[in-house]
Amino acid sequence: MINGDEDNTVASGKVAIVYASVHHGNTRQIATLLASQLDAELMTVEEAMGRCLKAYRVVGFGSGIYFGRHHHSLLKLVDSWNEAPDRVFIFSTAGLPILRSLQHTALRGRLVKKGCSVLGEFCCRGWDTVGPLWLMGGINRKHPNERDLDRARRFAEKLLASR
Ligand SMILES: Cc1cc2nc3c(=O)[nH]c(=O)nc-3n(C[C@H](O)[C@H](O)[C@H](O)COP(=O)(O)O)c2cc1C
Repeated sequence: MINGDEDNTVASGKVAIVYASVHHGNTRQIATLLASQLDAELMTVEEAMGRCLKAYRVVGFGSGIYFGRHHHSLLKLVDSWNEAPDRVFIFSTAGLPILRSLQHTALRGRLVKKGCSVLGEFCCRGWDTVGPLWLMGGINRKHPNERDLDRARRFAEKLLASR
């Protein structure tokens, strides 16, 4: 128990955000914004490896989507746990955010299997220059943009209000 209280709201306990952002830093922008909105401790997957995340009231996990799933380091992190945090949320940036539900499956499935309760999921467009896309400057140029960041802010507000 954190702070000696029984309140289960996101607002009542310490929050951590763990992310990987290897393509253009798109997800780092979202992770940084969420961390500031939720007053969370921000850490990379490397920094989170070997740490006990169960001590946090809520932990958010995010990365870009690469070949239909979150970054392999994030999946590996979850696989490595003996003890899992109770309450989590998932976020990503992607070339095709319309596929969010499907592309979050690998991470969500692992978290649920470890016994985590998933409070919410967020995905927005991220600048994507993979493969031949770079020839035309990529897709989703200038994303995440202000609208994406606003959506992320609203997502954080919902998390703060969630029980
Ligand atoms: C190697 C590679 C594979 C990708 N595969 C997908 C994919 O399967 N689905 C998708 O929607 N976006 C895909 N993308 C686009 C990224 O998810 C998108 O650019 C994301 O914003 C990158 O986040 P980052 O800058 O934080 O690493 C891929 C990008 C790269 C570099």
